[in-house]
Order: sequence, then C-alpha cells, then structure tokens
Amino acid sequence: MLEIRDLHVTFTTTGKEAVKGIDLTIQPGERVGLVGESGSGKTVTAMTLSGLIERSIVQLSGQVLLDGRDILHCSRAELRQVHGREIGMVFQEPMTSLNPLMRVGEQIEETLRIHTHRTPAQRKALALEAMAQVGLPDPETTYYKYPHQLSGGQRQRAIIASAMIILPKLLICDEPTTALDVTVQKQILDLLRRLSEEYHVAVLLISHDMTVVRRLCENVAVMYQGRIVERGRTEDIFRHPQDEYTRRLIAAIPTRKRHDATGKDN
Ligand SMILES: Nc1ncnc2c1ncn2[C@@H]1O[C@H](COP(=O)(O)OP(=O)(O)OP(=O)(O)O)[C@@H](O)[C@H]1O
Ligand SMILES: [Mg+2]
Repeated sequence: MLEIRDLHVTFTTTGKEAVKGIDLTIQPGERVGLVGESGSGKTVTAMTLSGLIERSIVQLSGQVLLDGRDILHCSRAELRQVHGREIGMVFQEPMTSLNPLMRVGEQIEETLRIHTHRTPAQRKALALEAMAQVGLPDPETTYYKYPHQLSGGQRQRAIIASAMIILPKLLICDEPTTALDVTVQKQILDLLRRLSEEYHVAVLLISHDMTVVRRLCENVAVMYQGRIVERGRTEDIFRHPQDEYTRRLIAAIPTRKRHDATGKDN
C-alpha cells in the first residue's frame, strides 16, 4: 500500500541530509514502528510522507508510492487530496495541532468539510460518533468545548478522532504519547490498536521509545542518523537485537519498564 523507495531528504538551507536513502513498505492495516534517537530523521520522514514538509527548503529524491501513485512528486492539489484524506496525521503536542479558537467538534469535522460533500447535520452526527469511538466523555457536551477545556489525553483523543473520521488508509503518529503520563499513554496506544484493527487502518508509529512501539506494532524499523539500521518483527528485535545501536536503545529502557512492556494488558 505505502512503499518508500530510497528516500533522501536534504535541507537546502543547511546542506544537512536528514534522511539518507530509506526503504520501507507498509501493508494495509499493518502497524509499523519507526524508532530512533533524537535527530535521527523520524519527524522529517513523517513530514515528507504526509506532504507537510516545506518543499521550498528541501531537496527530495526517491519515491513514495501510495497504492502505486508517487506522492513525492505530485502537484500541490494532488497532495491536498492525499493529506488528511488518505493519510492522517497525529503529532506529539495536541495543543499545537488544535486551533485554540475553534470548538472541538468543529475541528473533528474539518476533514469531512474539506474532503466530502456531507451536510452539516451529517458531519455533526459523524463527529459525535467518532468522539464516542475514541472515548471522549459526553460527546454532545464536549463537541461545544474549546481545546483548553480538555485534558491532554482528551485533546489527543480529539486529534485522533479528527484524523480517523474520514478513515484514511494510513495514520502517521509522531510521538503521539510523549507528552502524556504513563497511564494515559497506554490508553492512547490501546485506542490506536483498537481503531486500526476495527477499521483496518495502517499505522506508522514514530517514537524514540521501544516500549511504546512494542505495545502497538508487530514490525519495527530502527533509524540511526538518517538510515534504517535494522528492521523486523518487534518481538524478535526486542529479544535479539542485531545492530549495536538497537542494543543501546533497548538497554536505555529501565529494567522494570522492559519487563512491563511484555504484557499488553497492564
Ligand atoms: N527545518 C529544518 N532545517 C534544517 N534542518 C532540519 C530541519 N528540521 C530538521 N532538521 C534536521 O534534520 C535532522 C532530523 O531531524 P528530525 O526532527 O527528523 O529528528 P527526530 O528523529 O524526529 O528527532 P526527535 O526524536 O528529537 O523528534 C536533525 O539533524 C535536524 O537538525
Ligand atoms: Mg521528531
């Protein structure tokens, strides 16, 4: 479904090559993790895939095929169709991805307004349904609230609802739980798992934390300085990391957390 071939991203402003030829394939409904230390190129990769990268300051090469169509070299108009409609995005800081002046419900409907011909009444009904799906309390009331009236976890649920309402093929989540406390983190990861299973939406989960990826993703790619240095089944890599850098990533996890991550239900 999504096929990345030899993707390079270089910032023309600094000459920095942030992504140095990565290959990655994501099947429909598959959940893939992309882990790596700070600065390894994860967010630049995510921004490139979702079409949000500022094209005037980067030089891109390679291919990103979404169902065979190259979205790396398509027009802005085509890109708008892909972004939000076929690929949804969830970022780390839910406060910055929500408009503080707009009611939560209206923001959840936004993708429907842009990409479909649904009537306002239909959009609202779908928004309420999506809000219930992601576990937002009392959708009828929450619909009319502003982002600052929600908790961090609730804001992240609202973002997920706004990305999922249109049922994209792929949901790219860049550190979706990093700003949240551990309990809420687990709830959000379990929510992503449930939605991806129920609606057969593929997920690319980006994190610097192996235990987060392990909770959600069957497969993982480890990124180091712009390259993928190791990939495979998350469980195999967790147990028998081959690359030295992967070993260091796993060793950096506190022992108790490493142990905790083996159970999906704790
Ligand atoms: N707008 C930009 N201009 C120039 N260089 C950039 C820009 N954005 C990112 N970079 C560089 O690209 C490299 C990869 O950055 P990126 O944000 O993808 O890292 P990351 O893996 O997401 O890290 P983190 O875990 O901290 O989020 C870094 O060296 C960074 O300095
Ligand atoms: Mg990042």
